[in-house]
Amino acid sequence: MSEDVQSLAKRRGFIWQSAEIYGSMAGFYDYGAMGARLKRNWENVWLKYFMGLNDNYHLIDSTNILPEAALKASGHVDSFTDPLVECTKCGHAFRADQLIEEATSTAAEELSLEEIDAKVSEIGLACPKCKGPFGKAMFFNMMFPIEVGTKGTDRAYLRPETAQGAYLNFKRHFEIMRRKLPLGLAIIGKAYRNEIAPRQGVYRMREFIQAELQIFMDPETFSDELDLSEMDGKEILVQLVDMRGKKDVQSMPCRYLIEQYKLPDFYVYHMLKVQEFYLDIIKIPKNKFRFYEKSEKERAFYNRVHFDIEVDLSTLGGFRELAGLHYRGDYDLTKHQIGSKEKMEVSLDGRKLIPHVLELSFGVDRNVWALLDIHLVDERTGVLKLPPQLAPYTFAVFPLMKKDELIPLAKEIHNLLKDDYDVCYDQSGSIGKRYARMDEIGTPFCITVDFDGLTDDTVTLRDTDTTEQKRVKVDELERIARGLASGKLKFKDLN
Ligand code: GAP
Repeated sequence: MSEDVQSLAKRRGFIWQSAEIYGSMAGFYDYGAMGARLKRNWENVWLKYFMGLNDNYHLIDSTNILPEAALKASGHVDSFTDPLVECTKCGHAFRADQLIEEATSTAAEELSLEEIDAKVSEIGLACPKCKGPFGKAMFFNMMFPIEVGTKGTDRAYLRPETAQGAYLNFKRHFEIMRRKLPLGLAIIGKAYRNEIAPRQGVYRMREFIQAELQIFMDPETFSDELDLSEMDGKEILVQLVDMRGKKDVQSMPCRYLIEQYKLPDFYVYHMLKVQEFYLDIIKIPKNKFRFYEKSEKERAFYNRVHFDIEVDLSTLGGFRELAGLHYRGDYDLTKHQIGSKEKMEVSLDGRKLIPHVLELSFGVDRNVWALLDIHLVDERTGVLKLPPQLAPYTFAVFPLMKKDELIPLAKEIHNLLKDDYDVCYDQSGSIGKRYARMDEIGTPFCITVDFDGLTDDTVTLRDTDTTEQKRVKVDELERIARGLASGKLKFKDLN
């Protein structure tokens, strides 16, 4: 990971390792004041966009601790594992597939334990710490076990994904929401994985945040609920399995993916929605975005279709996964029906079915990091250019100088805007330093009260993107702020 961006993120109050004063543990991070605002804004934008897809999509919340029985039924107790090799000399443990991938530059995700052992001896892989030999590869379960109660008899785990909370709550919500499909249940919250090799900062953490939407649907009628004509003439940026090694990304018409590649139309429709989210709202440049298809061997066996959503991040050395779009079929509810003996089957128009799940799964921390990576336009000057809805502060209000004449109007403007937007008020230090500080944390617009403005009721409005300043009437500020914050009004279009 780029040291520069990491130290900038720390210095500017975004994100750093947790429990720093005790030396920190690998894989745990805290958000500072700017990071917490940025993260919250990303979550709000995500919620607004994806809950807006259907009136029957809802945000719920569920516990971080789940009983063993639920995770046994979901398959996590037996198979939520990564392959591990341990050095027989110093005892250090490593993720076997990652070591092999680094040594050979070929994918090793799907290797069996026997294949890993064979590969380790074939390429003479030794411990990167002490050069000692490795023992036999073994599977390591990544869940954190928890003992509940004074005697610790109720075995439980920290949830490895938020998705399970939605599956466990499906039946109750289906009843509450008047027995309609599609039903979407979204959860934003912590997930926990005891990663063997947490690394690359927030990319592989042991405690992280997911924003997941589980869409429960009838695969035979789901498409009728969607306006498929939205796909007409639209293209998706993809790297398909059969394009690997040839082209990083290809732009393909939605219809072509449906007709030639036999992807379900509802799946491609959601690819388009996810792509619009990243390109239009998060403002990821087109050339840095792609859907990466997972092969049958690479994807979880219950995923019928699986593309990762990847963004090219210079701090992480290329295209990296930020999210996934998974068509999981009826796997999850079927497993919980068997495990809990509660019926997950529903009746719709005389038809009985176990609903299928289309899962939109996003890693919040990785997405927040991507914002810093993509929008840090100049590492030398450190200017961060965040979209207004995402920036920790949308506006900053300053009196030009700390003078009694200027402060009342500046405070009045701050009060006018602060209930509706994230607004920073600052009156100390030189104006140049205050602008520079806002440039560093990605505040798109600064409003400054100066002496001229006191006579003609104007203030200056500065655009971080261009550093251009325009004079605007104080009584126009509310309207202008609304337009700029929503993105409907562009600074360049202001007179
Ligand atoms: N419910 C499906 C699921 O959990 P996943 O691919 O394991 O799928 C979804 O995780 C997303 O969560 C990933 O695309 C990634 O953004 C994020 N994620 C997964 N493991 C992570 C980790 N160790 N650290 C940070 N983010 C992680």
